[in-house]
Amino acid sequence: MEIFHIAAECYPAAKVGGLADVVGALPKYQNSAGHLVSVVLPRYETKFINENEFDCVHSDFVKLGNFNFPFNILKERTGKLGYELYLVEIPELFDRKEIYGHEDDIERFVSFQIATLDWINTRTAMPDVINCHDHHTGLIPFMMMYANKYEKLKDTPTVITIHNSIYQGQFGFDKLYYLPEFDLSKVTLLEWDNRINSLATAIKCASAVTTVSPNYLNEINYSAYGLESLFNLVRYKSRGILNGIDMEVWNPATDKMLEKNYSIKNFKKGKQENKEKLCAEHNLDPTKPLFSFIGRLLEEKGADLLPHAAAMSLSENYKEINILVLGSGNTEIENQLTHLLTSFKGNYNAVIGYDEALAHQIYAGSDFLLMPSRVEPCGLNQMYAMRYGTIPIVRRTGGLKDTVIDFGDNGNGICHDQASVGDICYSIQRAVNLYKDKKKINDIRKKGMAIDHSWESVCQEYIEGYNLILNKNEG
Ligand code: GLC
Repeated sequence: MEIFHIAAECYPAAKVGGLADVVGALPKYQNSAGHLVSVVLPRYETKFINENEFDCVHSDFVKLGNFNFPFNILKERTGKLGYELYLVEIPELFDRKEIYGHEDDIERFVSFQIATLDWINTRTAMPDVINCHDHHTGLIPFMMMYANKYEKLKDTPTVITIHNSIYQGQFGFDKLYYLPEFDLSKVTLLEWDNRINSLATAIKCASAVTTVSPNYLNEINYSAYGLESLFNLVRYKSRGILNGIDMEVWNPATDKMLEKNYSIKNFKKGKQENKEKLCAEHNLDPTKPLFSFIGRLLEEKGADLLPHAAAMSLSENYKEINILVLGSGNTEIENQLTHLLTSFKGNYNAVIGYDEALAHQIYAGSDFLLMPSRVEPCGLNQMYAMRYGTIPIVRRTGGLKDTVIDFGDNGNGICHDQASVGDICYSIQRAVNLYKDKKKINDIRKKGMAIDHSWESVCQEYIEGYNLILNKNEG
């Protein structure tokens, strides 16, 4: 079947978080399973986009209320990503390096959605399914069904995949005129809590809703930033499908970013060499257990607890552990983490920023990965960590609960229930003790490395979901 994925991020073209990893991988596997898959995202000023070649396949103007922005559809020339990559180039709105965080994000993403549909609408054959991701593409199912100019797309099934329900793309009804002319009797479908809410609109209008883990689907029925009752209403068309990871990109045996490649057969030596290099580069002690955190420094990820938890654990275990943080986000958290450098030199370091290669080296060289998330719809880092023989320490929430079981229950990691400094420190203490039992810790590492989180079977679940809605539409 022909599938279109529409999203704001896609690795390697544009990445902020896990959304990019999923949108960069799932299409590749759907394509190898015999489907014709395209990904559509805005053309930002990123390194990948600037360094690769694209052909312009369509040009027009996108109308956003009174504004008319010229746009081009660019197609990646070689197809080397394993699917067709299309970029929507709207220079006035997207010729910027930062993907999010602009004052005109609403104008940017609404224009992106309209331009995408304008272009798809010019094709002779319509795709079989359009899979939207998160709120940036949430108005698409509504516009396809009710905007007069997309009559041709009215019956094409849509899926909204929810990677995170915190961000909902809300804006006031004063901007309703941005949308192309539509059947006004349907205007309430756009509304949630007296505002236009892109995510809520998608949940109401899409033929199916998927979340990125089964447990997250359960959680959003009682905790979803105001959308709980809506999620309850659409339960009948919802599915929780656990993300996979790209086992080719994330493979310690072939990963070119590592100091030393290794597999489950020689991981002890391999990890040790990576750890020594990592510790040397970040002024840490390779003879002590290394705890790391990788990710966005946001409350959602429990990152606000890190400075305090790190300081307490480092003081209690004076010179017995190392902690390394890689991430950026909230400035206050960044400052607090940087501030700790003076007190714990030699056992602590923080790299503020985003560095894909360093992230790979940290997965390989660490002993434990901290994920004290308050909210984690799926979480990929725990899966990357396990693949690299690093033991995840997680708060039992969302997809973390689906993928990590405490070693006390014969599992593959360390779990705690509260997003609190106390729980994190307690888990670190358990890890310090576990580190002393070499046989046990190596057994747990091996268990993690042996888990198959590949996309092949996950991709099949998506196809089954698409087939269900396709059959319903035909019937
Ligand atoms: C978002 C979620 C994360 C999930 C990722 C990919 O970033 O916060 O939990 O793994 O999307 O679906």
